[in-house]
Amino acid sequence: MLIKTHNSGFIHPVSSEITSQGIYQQRRDMIRLMAGGAAGAALAGWAGREALAQGVARPGKLAALPGARSAVAGAVTMEKVTDYKDASTYNNFYEFGTDKADPAKNAGTLVTKPWTVVVDGLVKQPKTWAIEDLLKLSAQEERIYRMRCVEGWSMVIPWVGYSMAELIKKVEPLGNAKYVEFITQADPKTMPFVGSRVLDWPYVEALRLDEAMNPLTLLAFGMYGEVMPNQNGAPVRLVVPWKYGFKSGKSIVRIRFTDKEPRTAWNKAAANEYGFYSNVNPNVDHPRWSQATERRIGEDGLFAKKRKTLMFNGYEAQVGQLYAGMDLKKNF
Ligand code: MTE
Repeated sequence: MLIKTHNSGFIHPVSSEITSQGIYQQRRDMIRLMAGGAAGAALAGWAGREALAQGVARPGKLAALPGARSAVAGAVTMEKVTDYKDASTYNNFYEFGTDKADPAKNAGTLVTKPWTVVVDGLVKQPKTWAIEDLLKLSAQEERIYRMRCVEGWSMVIPWVGYSMAELIKKVEPLGNAKYVEFITQADPKTMPFVGSRVLDWPYVEALRLDEAMNPLTLLAFGMYGEVMPNQNGAPVRLVVPWKYGFKSGKSIVRIRFTDKEPRTAWNKAAANEYGFYSNVNPNVDHPRWSQATERRIGEDGLFAKKRKTLMFNGYEAQVGQLYAGMDLKKNF
């Protein structure tokens, strides 16, 4: 996320971030080429991918969390999966710092046990789940999603979790519930940047109820066949693949059903830049940069071209109907 300096006192604009990712990637590419040769690097990617498809490859860093391959339409892209190293060291998690490398360095202090998630608001069956019980609420599935960040980079990540709809059915929303708010952990003792003025804590995100019910909306407990690394939002986060990455709240502690559109963290910080919907849309530019193309982390070496960003991040067949008749330039 890029922060604008203006009178509200947010810290430094990081307009060089996209460029610096390019340089970072070039260095990584050079190291890889030197270590194994181009063919070696390609083979490692292919082998890793095949193994993953068979459900056996995992980084071996954290406890295993297997998931059956999802049968949900559109839930498994066949594109090359991003290296675990990149997916777990190039993160946005502002509770642990604003630099992409900060979450991997600092999130070791996050305490994920015990952890409970309160589900309340306009529902018939409000409930507080211990994370262990929430995990077992439905069968774990593996989904391989394209993820597109508002800053202009993307990754392909194998997540483990189940459809948010499974949880929603259990709590039985009332007829007047129209939105679902996701409130995340904000503990200044374990999250060093909570208390800084970067954002109004806790980090809050929200969806319309029908968006949250779409089978692609994932409540994720892990990635790459293992439990979620802290820096990616342990122990439970949301993943909404047709929206810019910031809609996917990390380390959720409360899910609240409401009748009014909730104010969300980035919308509060800069309403003209980050709207409620935040659907990936190459036709609607961010006020300060184009959204027409993206850089895929892992393939943006010296001569790599940018990719064209797809409408709804390529999930139009699955989610386009949610926005039928809406002016997406106004509802950005
Ligand atoms: N959730 C919390 N609690 N705090 C954050 O700062 N950053 C968001 C989102 N969820 C954020 C968050 C942004 S801007 C992005 S792009 C994604 O998390 C990044 O997820 P990743 O690190 O797994 O790629």
